[in-house]
Amino acid sequence: MGRRHSLINIFLSIFSLFSLVLLPTSHALPLSTNSRWIVDAKGQRVKLACVTWASHLELVVAEGLNKQPVDVISKKIKELGFNCVRLTWPIYLASNESLASLTVRQSFLNAGLSASVIAELQANNPSIVDLSLINAFQAVVSSLAKNNVMVILDNHVSKPGWCCSYSDGNGFFGDKYFNPDLWIKGLTKMATLFRNNPFVVGMSLRNELRGPKQNANDWYRYMQRGAEAVHEANPNVLVILSGLSFDTNLSFLREQPVSLSFTGKIVFEVHKYSFADTFEWETKNPNEACGKMMSDLMKMSGFLLDQGFPLFVGEWGINLVKQSESEQKYLNCFLAWAVEHDLDWALWTLVGSYTFKSGVVGSSEYFGLLNENWTQVRDKTFLQRISVIQSPLQGPGIPYYNKHKIIFHPSTGLCILKNTVMGVELGNCSESNHWSYTANNILEIKGSYLCLQAQGLNRPTRLSIICPGRGTDWTPISDSKLLLAATLSNNTTACLDVDSHNNLITTTCKCTSNDNKCDPGSQWFKVADAFDKQLH
Ligand SMILES: *[C@@H]1O[C@H](CO)[C@@H](O)[C@H](O)[C@H]1NC(C)=O
Ligand SMILES: *[C@@H]1O[C@H](CO)[C@@H](O)[C@H](O)[C@H]1NC(C)=O
Ligand SMILES: *[C@@H]1O[C@H](CO)[C@@H](O)[C@H](O)[C@H]1NC(C)=O
Repeated sequence: MGRRHSLINIFLSIFSLFSLVLLPTSHALPLSTNSRWIVDAKGQRVKLACVTWASHLELVVAEGLNKQPVDVISKKIKELGFNCVRLTWPIYLASNESLASLTVRQSFLNAGLSASVIAELQANNPSIVDLSLINAFQAVVSSLAKNNVMVILDNHVSKPGWCCSYSDGNGFFGDKYFNPDLWIKGLTKMATLFRNNPFVVGMSLRNELRGPKQNANDWYRYMQRGAEAVHEANPNVLVILSGLSFDTNLSFLREQPVSLSFTGKIVFEVHKYSFADTFEWETKNPNEACGKMMSDLMKMSGFLLDQGFPLFVGEWGINLVKQSESEQKYLNCFLAWAVEHDLDWALWTLVGSYTFKSGVVGSSEYFGLLNENWTQVRDKTFLQRISVIQSPLQGPGIPYYNKHKIIFHPSTGLCILKNTVMGVELGNCSESNHWSYTANNILEIKGSYLCLQAQGLNRPTRLSIICPGRGTDWTPISDSKLLLAATLSNNTTACLDVDSHNNLITTTCKCTSNDNKCDPGSQWFKVADAFDKQLH
């Protein structure tokens, strides 16, 4: 044995000891948790900005493979600003070998799909069409990994098919299709299968627990078993636990934390859609409805941040084809909340159309980011609005630590920036000035002696050197606390607003009475914590 050989051995053992994988974005995998933050192997915050890609429906094939080549989709995901995919799978893919060994082509044929659909699949993904379902799933994960997209494997259902209804037999432990032992077996198998792929950074144990059988005792019993099984099979992955009632309720954890043999890997998951409270959005004053949504979210799941756990909003989204007023209000409120807490999340959904869903071929997904042909995003404005939550604002490990505030405007997705000598404008949040928000509600640009000042009703908002001065007392008002009201020279108050040309002005505060028909969206701002960005 030569010297060279032993050096290589030393190098290899050091390498496997740390087994870090460096992404171009400089994340070092695997991930773990540091209090409420997800961090990489170097201790730096990693914010999960994921999009859900469904692979749990009848065909048990990732959607869209008949529309676009898998690598094109993976690259697109990265290009759209996501660093991660929540990839869904059914337990049967891992537990039923005769299902797992069907080829993709056979699965399409069994579902009665036409020769033209299969020809499209063959043309777009010739290397996948004759793989077994489990190998095709692995091929999708490999393509994502190759493109530096992290993957969270989400066990969505047991029996393949559309999810979720209250009584579809997939809802809770002991339901018709939800055998807990089979579930543990499936989780173990999947964790083992991907244990050598560092890009598989997390496993979400089960989507949207629900139904007549749901109860907290069984939640602890089985979720803890599932978590231990996954951790034992692959100690590198984050283990993600969802709540009851379609993953809206984790409140029971306030009194009784989970009891597990390991730490540093647990993340909780919550889902939040507008349709959970359509009635509130349609009938209530929007400031009140938003205030209630935020306080409910904190009671049902957000308190976990204070308990030292990351919170992953595993599903949220809106209809991107026909947007309702309710959904717009919900989205503004949601973005303000997500920015305030700088949460990790997965958008529902990437999927523009389903190859085969509940017996229908090619049905459109209106919540889908991509169009029916999987060629383009449906709504570029939406992408602009969510870009602020795609990058971390806070968290451990960012050099040149210098905490400041940004003033975020959810309905445009932009932030307030200084422009000309004493003017302000909306611009990209990543270019925001460093604001401070003082005890007497002055919004000051750090180190500049300049502060934001209301000039009068329907007049441009500008910067002032008299701080404090008239019109510089920006008080968060209403139940939403998203209106910023300042005192004008005649002692009336006015709220910060954005006009139709995106100019910052002040106008009469909206929806501060019992008015239920108004929309205060243009007046909603969130003053949120942010770090200094790395300078080089
Ligand atoms: C396993 O999968 C095969 C092929 O899809 C199916 O025919 C069979 O019913 C499945 N078995 C169970 C127990 O679900
Ligand atoms: C949340 O779940 C717990 C435990 O099952 C239950 O006691 C509580 O009532 C639920 N809360 C809501 C608002 O549904
Ligand atoms: C999708 O593709 C089909 C077939 O190529 C085409 O007829 C249709 O116009 C496309 N639709 C969109 C929205 O691009």
